[in-house]
Amino acid sequence: MVRVRGVTKSFGGAAALKGVDLDLYPGEIHALMGMNGAGKSTLVQVLCGVHQPDGGTIEVDGHRHTGLNVRRARGLGVSSVPQRRELAMGLTVAENIMLGDLPTRRFGAVDWKAVRARAGAALSGLGIDIDVQRVAGSLTVAEQTMVEVAREVRRGGRVLILDEPTACLSARDAGQVRALVRRLRDEGVAVVYISHYIDEVMSVADRVTVLRDGGLVRSAPAAETDPAALVRDMVGRDVVSRRPERPAPRDEPGLAVRGLSHGHAVRDFTVEVRKGEIVAVLGPAGDAQSRLFDLLSGRVRPDAGEVLVDGRPVPPGRVGAALAGGLRCVTGDRRSLGLVQSMTVDENLMLAGDRFARRRLHRSADLARRAAPVRDAYGVVALSGNPPVGSLSGGNQQKVLLGKWLETEPVACFLEDPTNGVDVAAMADIHTLVDDLAARGVAVLLASSSAEEVMRLADRVVVVSAGRTVGEHDITAITRDELVATALGGQPQ
Ligand SMILES: Nc1ncnc2c1ncn2[C@@H]1O[C@H](COP(=O)(O)OP(=O)(O)OP(=O)(O)O)[C@@H](O)[C@H]1O
Ligand SMILES: [Mg+2]
Repeated sequence: MVRVRGVTKSFGGAAALKGVDLDLYPGEIHALMGMNGAGKSTLVQVLCGVHQPDGGTIEVDGHRHTGLNVRRARGLGVSSVPQRRELAMGLTVAENIMLGDLPTRRFGAVDWKAVRARAGAALSGLGIDIDVQRVAGSLTVAEQTMVEVAREVRRGGRVLILDEPTACLSARDAGQVRALVRRLRDEGVAVVYISHYIDEVMSVADRVTVLRDGGLVRSAPAAETDPAALVRDMVGRDVVSRRPERPAPRDEPGLAVRGLSHGHAVRDFTVEVRKGEIVAVLGPAGDAQSRLFDLLSGRVRPDAGEVLVDGRPVPPGRVGAALAGGLRCVTGDRRSLGLVQSMTVDENLMLAGDRFARRRLHRSADLARRAAPVRDAYGVVALSGNPPVGSLSGGNQQKVLLGKWLETEPVACFLEDPTNGVDVAAMADIHTLVDDLAARGVAVLLASSSAEEVMRLADRVVVVSAGRTVGEHDITAITRDELVATALGGQPQ
C-alpha cells in the first residue's frame, strides 16, 4: 500500500533520516522501534506530509507522490495520531470527530443531531464506547487517543500512524488501545505503531522495523525476532536492568504526608517515606496519584493535611516553599508544566539550580560548561549543539526534565512517570539514577503507570482507592500480576 525508498531528511544540516525504506501492507501492524532520537517521529511525519523529505521516494498504491502535505496525504488515506494528542479540549467528542465536515441543513445551519449521530456511528463502528456529548478535556488520555483514531478512520484513513499511543497509560487503558489497533488491522487498515515497550510490540506487531541514528537496521516479521535481539538492534548492545543492592533505608522519615485532602479526588491520603527508601503510590488511573503532583509541588493548595520534609512542615500551596524545604516534584506532563519549550537545552537544565543559587548572571559559555556534566549524566542527545528544548525528541526532553530537578540536592522527591517516552537504554539509565538518588539518602515517592517500573524500583507500594490510602505492601510480598490487579482497583488477596 505504501512504499518508502531511501528517504533522507536533515534539520539545519544534521541528518535525522539517512536513506530509510519502509513497506506498509493492509491488514498489518507495523511497529517502528528505535532509541530516542532515532528518527521514528520524523519518518512518520514525512509519510503524513508534515515534513518534506530532502531525498527519496514515497509511493502510495503504486503511484509516486512528491510534495506531500498533510492535506494531500490525508486525501490518500494516510493520517496519524501524533505523539502529542491534538483534540480541541473545549469541544465535545462529536464536534471533534466531525470537525471540518459538519453536516448542514438547508440554509447552511449545522445539523447538530446529525453531527452526534455520525460521530456516534464512527465510534460504535470501531467498538468504542464513549458518550459523544462529553467534552474532550474530560476524557482520559486513552479515550482521547481512541477518539482521534475514530476521527481519522471516518475521514477515510487506510494507513494509520500511532506515535507512542500507550506511553503513560495504565495497563487497562493500554489494553483498550491495543484492542482497538488489532481491530483496525483486522478491518484491513495498515497500522504503523511506535512504542518503547518491547513486550507490547512483541504482542501486537506483525512486522518490526528498527531505526538507529536515522538509518534502517532491520525490518522483519515479528515472529522472526525476540526481545533480546530487538534491544540489540536498537541499542547496538545488550541492556540489563536489575534491582541492585541498595543500602537499607535509614530510620528517619524524609517525606511524610498526613491526611492530605483535596475535593473528592484526594481524601485523607497518608504516606511516610524514609530517607533512602522508594515508595510507589498505586491506584486506578485518575485516582489520587494523578493529583499528587499539584498538591505536593505547591501548585494547588490542599483543603487539609500536612506535608513534612525532613521532619519540618512545608507551608501548603506555595511552590517556592516546597522547593526551599528540599522537595522536588517532577511532573508527568513535561510539555505544559515541566520545560520551557522555547529555551535551550542548557538553559532548561540549569534553570532550577540557578534559582536556588540565586544566580542572576548567565553567560552562555559558562552555561554550556556547567550544563555539560548534567547532559552527560542523563545522556541527553541532540542533533546539533544546544537547540531549543522543544526540538528534542520526546525521550530526550524527559531526560532534560529529570536532570533539571534531580541535580539540585533534594531531600525528598516525587517522581511522576519518570521514564515517560524514553527508550530501553535510557529507561535503564534513569532507573539507575533513581537508585542512586535513594542510595544517597533521598526519600523517593513514585507514581508510575508501569507495573514493571514499580517492581524494578520500589521498596514498598502504597495502594490508594477513591483518594484514600487503603493498603500497603512490601515489594517482595507482591507479584507483578497482583500489582496490576491492584492498579485496576482490586486489592490483592
Ligand atoms: N524540527 C526539528 N528541528 C531540529 N531537529 C529536529 C526537529 N525534529 C526532530 N529533530 C531531531 O531529529 C532527530 C530525530 O528525532 P525524532 O523526533 O524523529 O526521534 P524519535 O525516534 O521519534 O525519538 P523519541 O523516541 O524520543 O520520540 C532528533 O535528534 C531530533 O532532535
Ligand atoms: Mg518520537
